[in-house]
Amino acid sequence: MISLKVSTLCVLTLLCFSRVSSASSDTFFLNCGSSQNATVNNRTFVSDNNLGREIFDSTQTISLTATDSNSLPPGTESTLFQTARVFPEESTYRFKIDQHGWFLIRLYFLPFPSSSRDLTSARFSVSSQNFTLFRHHKPSTTSVVKEYSLNISTGTLSLQFRPEVGSFAFINALEVFRLPENLLPEEAGVISTQSSKKTHKLSTHAMETVSRINMGNLSVSRDQDKLWRQWDADSTYMGVAHFGLPVTNLKAVNFSAGNTTEDIAPVYVYGTATRLNSEDNPNTNANLTWTFKVDPGFDYFLRFHFCNIIVDPFGSVRRVSFDIYVNSQRVVSVDMSEVANGTFGAPFFVDAVMLKAMMGLGGDLTLSVGGVMDVSSYPLSFLNGLEILKLSNDKRSLDASDAVLPDGSLGNKSPRIGLIAGVSAALCVALVFCVICFAWCARKRRNRQMQSGDEEIKEIETGESLIFSSSKIGYRYPLALIKEATNDFNESLVIGVGGFGKVYKGVLSDKTEIAVKRAAPKSRQGLAEFKTEIEMLSQFRHRHLVSLIGYCDENSEMIIVYEYMEKGTLKDHLYDSENQRLSWRQRLEICVGAARGLHYLHTGSARAVIHRDVKSANILLDENFMAKVADFGLSKTGPDLDQTHVSTAVKGSFGYLDPEYLTRQQLTEKSDVYSFGVVMLEVLCGRPVIDPSLPREKVNLIEWGMKLVKKGKMEEILDPFLDGKVKVEEVKKYCELTEKCLAQNGVERPTMGDLLWNLEFMLQVQAKDEKAAMVDDGPEASVVGSTVQFSVNGMGDIEGVSMSKVFARMVVGEETRERD
Ligand SMILES: *[C@@H]1O[C@H](CO)[C@@H](O)[C@H](O)[C@H]1NC(C)=O
Ligand SMILES: *[C@@H]1O[C@H](CO)[C@@H](O)[C@H](O)[C@H]1NC(C)=O
Ligand SMILES: *[C@@H]1O[C@H](CO)[C@@H](O)[C@H](O)[C@H]1NC(C)=O
Ligand SMILES: *[C@@H]1O[C@H](CO)[C@@H](O)[C@H](O)[C@H]1NC(C)=O
Ligand SMILES: *[C@@H]1O[C@H](CO)[C@@H](O)[C@H](O)[C@H]1NC(C)=O
Ligand SMILES: *[C@@H]1O[C@H](CO)[C@@H](O)[C@H](O)[C@H]1NC(C)=O
Ligand SMILES: *[C@@H]1O[C@H](CO)[C@@H](O)[C@H](O)[C@H]1NC(C)=O
Ligand SMILES: *[C@@H]1O[C@H](CO)[C@@H](O)[C@H](O)[C@H]1NC(C)=O
Ligand SMILES: *[C@@H]1O[C@H](CO)[C@@H](O)[C@H](O)[C@H]1NC(C)=O
Repeated sequence: MISLKVSTLCVLTLLCFSRVSSASSDTFFLNCGSSQNATVNNRTFVSDNNLGREIFDSTQTISLTATDSNSLPPGTESTLFQTARVFPEESTYRFKIDQHGWFLIRLYFLPFPSSSRDLTSARFSVSSQNFTLFRHHKPSTTSVVKEYSLNISTGTLSLQFRPEVGSFAFINALEVFRLPENLLPEEAGVISTQSSKKTHKLSTHAMETVSRINMGNLSVSRDQDKLWRQWDADSTYMGVAHFGLPVTNLKAVNFSAGNTTEDIAPVYVYGTATRLNSEDNPNTNANLTWTFKVDPGFDYFLRFHFCNIIVDPFGSVRRVSFDIYVNSQRVVSVDMSEVANGTFGAPFFVDAVMLKAMMGLGGDLTLSVGGVMDVSSYPLSFLNGLEILKLSNDKRSLDASDAVLPDGSLGNKSPRIGLIAGVSAALCVALVFCVICFAWCARKRRNRQMQSGDEEIKEIETGESLIFSSSKIGYRYPLALIKEATNDFNESLVIGVGGFGKVYKGVLSDKTEIAVKRAAPKSRQGLAEFKTEIEMLSQFRHRHLVSLIGYCDENSEMIIVYEYMEKGTLKDHLYDSENQRLSWRQRLEICVGAARGLHYLHTGSARAVIHRDVKSANILLDENFMAKVADFGLSKTGPDLDQTHVSTAVKGSFGYLDPEYLTRQQLTEKSDVYSFGVVMLEVLCGRPVIDPSLPREKVNLIEWGMKLVKKGKMEEILDPFLDGKVKVEEVKKYCELTEKCLAQNGVERPTMGDLLWNLEFMLQVQAKDEKAAMVDDGPEASVVGSTVQFSVNGMGDIEGVSMSKVFARMVVGEETRERD
């Protein structure tokens, strides 16, 4: 099976490889002992047989080849293990280096069976740049790839193979290449209990990769990594009873937001994570813990990779902060809101050095990641990746036999058990050591999630500008917190009742007022609408769209938490309530605000969003009567801006439905324009769309109103409250606009943008008129301006429920939503 080929090479004292690989300078990939080049993962491993300028400070070397190598699929890593170069004597590879810096050395070993020489009997040491990489090596029977990083500041990189007396050394393949700049730092902070920021210099050490782990229980292969690093899955390092939950979200990773590159770790590392599984229990109080065996008596360089890729079931991004511990010592507090300004999917990493004094004698390196308990949230912690690199010691060695234990004893002298007593005493002292605090980790306890959420919302609202961001989010609330805020859903806090269920007013412990929409157990509005609403509100934030604060889906509850809108619905300020009637100017302002919100929905993202349920009960008013559009349960993302959409089930509210949509199931933004036209009519007339108590010809507002508008008898439909308080020509203009919105064919209706423009213009004219009136007539005329303060009164009681601040869904009968 195995053929043996012996080649004797000339004795040369010193020669250098220069440019073994044509790929780029300072890059050497050798297929050792082979006469053929091998291409593996897009790299050519060049035969080291016929390189005229190769060097071995050696009398002879032997090439071994397995004959069955031809049966192996070419291009796979196993090709590299089918040949070996054998060194009966001390031999050195020397690589000419063009540019100084960190280099990676990767050594491939597999003692394949051979009739001429038993490779498993090889015993040897390998060193580089006077660093001992390993000693007394007895090859394992499986393939092994060892990896080292060295800072080279000389013109050559030497790699020396030294067989033990009577034995020999071998290698199957090797890689030497310069690492990208900034991959490894010159120094890193030391993990310690003291607050002084000690750093440890790395550039004077050789480092050996001990573990490179991808969290999320998925390994990353060499061809998925720019530097051909292998990342192992983490589950084997977690205990049996762990709280880990693997997550994958590759498309969330946004390298341009973080401070790392794909050189530092590939998207496959940042796009997967192991997170604490607290889904079903907000009281989960646990650390995620991984345990690694490492050689005691050495210092270790640790790199933690993070990237918040975790979204809740409904697409909102979680806010996270937690601590990382190594052997129970806190390394760092991570607060995702402080990383890259809280950008979702921003990858970053944290470096630290663990001194040998912190490690137990067994060589356990225990890594724990845990959140600070906070009843107001589901605890969440996670990790995406981890690298553990061993640092060479004072003896310039990385070999375990050269270890110097913290008490000064030598690693290879007495058996470890004998040392335990003495060393653990030393450890107790040593553990009272120094802390690292990285500059960015200052914040230990997270602020109340709500507070930071509010800040973000305010930030957004200061600019009229449109924010389309999935990172500024709704938040998943534990049921207990919502119960607390609503006094266990106390009936006295109900501010509205609708098809969905009840709406409660609530107060969070930080005094934030909220509106809590809770689906009735047999809600007519299903899970689909619940989900749509959360998804829409998480994505779209605008000053004229009602803000999502959070939601709760615990115990099959469906609860949505919104900002509280002090003044309730527009509807409640138009009719059927004791609220003070709105002035003309206020009505225009509300129309303009709502139109802005809808215009944003239609145009704010690549694909238009159609609200589908525009009505006066879904336009809410804040304490300053600023309008915000609410209730996105029926919203739909249009297929493309120009295409029309044929939808199967007609949904919406009776009286507001676009006739074209009703008859042809064609859903476009113009359907919202139609419904908005109905709202405009309500605003003008101050009466419900359908009022069965009126004489027959007046029951339907649209029929009746449009008939009179066409006859030019606007004054007959005008809200009596507005009589004499608005100019006839303004009403006329307003009616013309309304009529256009209510056109039978969508194409004849204006766009939301046109509509908005026209409404804004009317508002300006109105404001100007009011100003002029003030000047002409003195202060008493300011009543016309109706910038008068409205007192909060009015408790129109319907069904025993205060409707004054309703968030709500309408009076029964107005609605004919069809359900899927
Ligand atoms: C191997 O690759 C080197 C460099 O690219 C080239 O010079 C050499 O001819 C190749 N050898 C074989 C056997 O293909
Ligand atoms: C291999 O190289 C080709 C061409 O340079 C490139 O398109 C491909 O993505 C590379 N594949 C890998 C796995 O790096
Ligand atoms: C290794 O040690 C030898 C002898 O002490 C010295 O001459 C040589 O410069 C050292 N090489 C490196 C890379 O430090
Ligand atoms: C490598 O070591 C030299 C000498 O100790 C130092 O000047 C240089 O900054 C180091 N290079 C890197 C990339 O750390
Ligand atoms: C990790 O993956 C393996 C196999 O893919 C599976 O057997 C194991 O249960 C997983 N572990 C966890 C914690 O998900
Ligand atoms: C990635 O992050 C940058 C910088 O924060 C941001 O401008 C960009 O929108 C983000 N890209 C995506 C797809 O979120
Ligand atoms: C997590 O681990 C740290 C360090 O060992 C410990 O202080 C903390 O109490 C642990 N938290 C939990 C919830 O077990
Ligand atoms: C990346 O960001 C993290 C967190 O902000 C910080 O601790 C770390 O030092 C940064 N790393 C680099 C290389 O800038
Ligand atoms: C974070 O925001 C600040 C101020 O808004 C800005 O100066 C800084 O560049 C931002 N950083 C990142 C990484 O986006």
